[in-house]
Amino acid sequence: MKLAKILFGSLMVLVFLTALVGCTPAATPAPAEPAAATEVPAAVKYEYKDMTVGFIQTGSEGGWRAANTASFKETAEQLGINLKFYDAQNKLENQISAFRNFIQDKEVNVIILAALETSGWDDVLKEAKAAGKVVVLEDRRIDASEDLYATYIGSDFAEEGRKAALEMCKLLEDSEAKNVVELVGNVGSSAAIDRGLGFREKMGECGITITQSQTANWDSTQGKTVMEAFLKQSTDIQGVFAQNDEMGLGAALAIEEAGLVAGTDIKILTVDATAGAFKGMIEGDINTVVECNPLLAPQVYEAALKALNGESLPKWVPSQEGVFYQADAESILPTRKY
Ligand code: AHR
Repeated sequence: MKLAKILFGSLMVLVFLTALVGCTPAATPAPAEPAAATEVPAAVKYEYKDMTVGFIQTGSEGGWRAANTASFKETAEQLGINLKFYDAQNKLENQISAFRNFIQDKEVNVIILAALETSGWDDVLKEAKAAGKVVVLEDRRIDASEDLYATYIGSDFAEEGRKAALEMCKLLEDSEAKNVVELVGNVGSSAAIDRGLGFREKMGECGITITQSQTANWDSTQGKTVMEAFLKQSTDIQGVFAQNDEMGLGAALAIEEAGLVAGTDIKILTVDATAGAFKGMIEGDINTVVECNPLLAPQVYEAALKALNGESLPKWVPSQEGVFYQADAESILPTRKY
């Protein structure tokens, strides 16, 4: 009997426990803490791997441009940036159409421009702004409202021109006559405009006169042709201000073919400081070179990333540049990157 009572009691306990569990709803999770009304999701923080850059290059007019292009391609590779490179073949209309293509390209979040000319950019810059694209100017400045681009990273071309005039004064200090001819880059580019203005600002300090000036479009062959024409016009020339190395090297050939000694009978000063100019100084054809730095990509990509992340930037970051002389050319050339 006693066993029966025990079994019955256990059964009742079992029934009671089953009923208890069966009726008790599954434990309900504590209500999630309501999100505080003030909580805002952290803004997206872009990294280089998130950047797709549409890069509009001028063309491939010489050693400086080749080094500038290489800087952007190599640095994009190193940083993991998706680079879409466009070579405009030195045609402004190609740059404008490439700009619009990159605005339409949903992948592109940054547009970098090396402008062939200073004017004609307002419409595409406004379209890029409306499309939410970051625009960074490299190498060449343009005439446009500063609120239409994040920043400009490039040389102070006017300062390069001032340095060129003062260095030409040194080259001609023992010459009574100081007639200088000027070989100009592509007309309308900020490099050509500003170098010319800077040179004219300082040439009066030693009585230099610019007797002839003509564009040779950054090109060595055109530099030779224009110098030949200058020499036919007059041989009373003491100096050549070539706005880049290629035009200066072309002028040296014309001077030699005219039976004169380049670098001695007529002093030659160029701008850029590419390997060709250093070789020209070693051979004695070129006397002095004012540097224009093409290795701008690291600074430009860093600025673009800051702009993508909403950081404010100075509207111009000038490049740091020097001057090189014949006496040092042989020792410096091996250290140069371009
Ligand atoms: O904008 C820089 C200039 O462009 C360089 O001096 C010249 O070589 C290039 O074409």
